[in-house]
Amino acid sequence: MSLLDAPQVRRFLALTGQRLPVMQAPVGSAASPALAAAVARAGGLGGLAITWTGPADSAEAIRRAGEGAEGGVLFANFVLHFPCENFEAVLATGIPVVTLSWGIDAGRIDRAKRAGARVGVQVGNAAGARKARAAGADFLIAQGVEAGGHVQSTTPLAALLPAVLQEAGDLPVLAAGGIATGAAIARAIGAGAAGAVLGTRFVATREASAHDDYKAALVAAGSGDTVLTGCFNLGWPDTQSRVLRNDTLTEWESEGCPQAPGRPGEGDIVFRVGEVAVPRYSDTAPVPGAVGAIRSACLYAGTGVGEIAAVEPADELVRRLWREAEAADGGRMN
Ligand SMILES: Cc1cc2nc3c(=O)[nH]c(=O)nc-3n(C[C@H](O)[C@H](O)[C@H](O)COP(=O)(O)O)c2cc1C
Repeated sequence: MSLLDAPQVRRFLALTGQRLPVMQAPVGSAASPALAAAVARAGGLGGLAITWTGPADSAEAIRRAGEGAEGGVLFANFVLHFPCENFEAVLATGIPVVTLSWGIDAGRIDRAKRAGARVGVQVGNAAGARKARAAGADFLIAQGVEAGGHVQSTTPLAALLPAVLQEAGDLPVLAAGGIATGAAIARAIGAGAAGAVLGTRFVATREASAHDDYKAALVAAGSGDTVLTGCFNLGWPDTQSRVLRNDTLTEWESEGCPQAPGRPGEGDIVFRVGEVAVPRYSDTAPVPGAVGAIRSACLYAGTGVGEIAAVEPADELVRRLWREAEAADGGRMN
């Protein structure tokens, strides 16, 4: 039997119209239109982390992704901690799927649905799942503590997923956090997920808008090389993010994790992108064209990073992951 025959997978694919239950997470600045297009073209759900983009640029990025998507399904993600001033401009493009994270806003969910979009909400615990369902979400994303980037959850995915499924009723639930292989996708579906969301794995693709040294660090890293920390909090204080261990983090820890402005190397510029200088402890990940100490910057990564063996074209990656998921035995999440 194909994983595509699982009832929860069928429901999710019917909801969004994509062919495969694989979603590329909204990986901040790394989520380029080319990446979103490649994932969508291969049958997955590809998308843009559009929170920090102005209205006109947002519409242009979605247009460019749509051009390469060849009819595949795209989403736009909003991190509700920030103002999201482009919300209406993004809906006006007719984007078929919107995802929300770091907040549950019934008004925005209703507005997006009235504009014709399906709405997914990323949650980190059962209470969030209950609230998102009550607020009208069409599907949920359970983000386990293994996830790369900013992490809402304190619970491992294997424990979080059943708790979220219990609250979700008949809403499809996607699993996120530490997933980087076809076997892990199969395990998530075997545990009741309607699909899997992969972030870090898609940063290490040809199309991702991440600096080559960041991609190389992901390929070189082992599974024990990530840390959930409040170290890189310039830009978004009081949050935890999962990153690769590097010299900035190790020196900060060795001084007892002091608060700003008393941190070692505070105010140093770690890299520059054109005129923009990015200081140590910034939550900005290095993009192509960045110049400086790239490996000392904030390099987001989930615990699945040890499974990444190469930088691959994203469409080939989606197809390979799916072949491997179908070939996997399934079995328990661990
Ligand atoms: C580089 C990077 C940037 C991210 N930026 C966002 C974002 O803008 N919005 C969001 O909702 N999640 C963001 N996330 C978290 C993802 O939505 C997702 O939960 C996570 O990538 C899943 O874990 P994985 O990286 O282990 O696959 C980001 C993750 C990474 C790795």
